[in-house]
Amino acid sequence: MSTLSEELRQRIQAEFPKYPNKRAVTLPALHLVHDAHRCVSTEAIAEIAELLELHPSEVADTMSFYGFFRAEDRPLGRKRVWVCRSLSCMLRGGEELLGDLSEQLNCPPGGTSPDGQYSLEFAECLGACEGAPCVLIDDECHMRATADEVVAALQESPTTPAPAGSRSE
Ligand code: FES
Repeated sequence: MSTLSEELRQRIQAEFPKYPNKRAVTLPALHLVHDAHRCVSTEAIAEIAELLELHPSEVADTMSFYGFFRAEDRPLGRKRVWVCRSLSCMLRGGEELLGDLSEQLNCPPGGTSPDGQYSLEFAECLGACEGAPCVLIDDECHMRATADEVVAALQESPTTPAPAGSRSE
């Protein structure tokens, strides 16, 4: 059985016309799989490689270059929360914010909550220092963040679907 769903394969293939060759689709393909599965497994790497006509080691090399991607032994929670730990945010209470979020989300800094709902990450400057302290919820930046506001935003934001493919099917 394939790890990548047919829909995911089609979404990867839909990227082909946007790039000069299939190799250039490696990063977009990794992002698509990572978003859907909350990690990129060894099987998924092999299937991406097959689609892109590459050796799996080439896809694995690209993936390992970016700390952003998680392997199957450390999947993301359904929501990824980044707390900025660079200077402006730290001076404006970023460390306390990280501690409060860790407590409210039951999630250790750098880890994932036991219920698989949240991953709490350290971010370097998010480029929004004027709004320190800053938090990124998946792709959405929250400035002058407080733990209560972030938790409320998490509860209001749509939940990422359960991981697809072999991890849940
Ligand atoms: S230091 Fe946190 S956004 Fe720049």
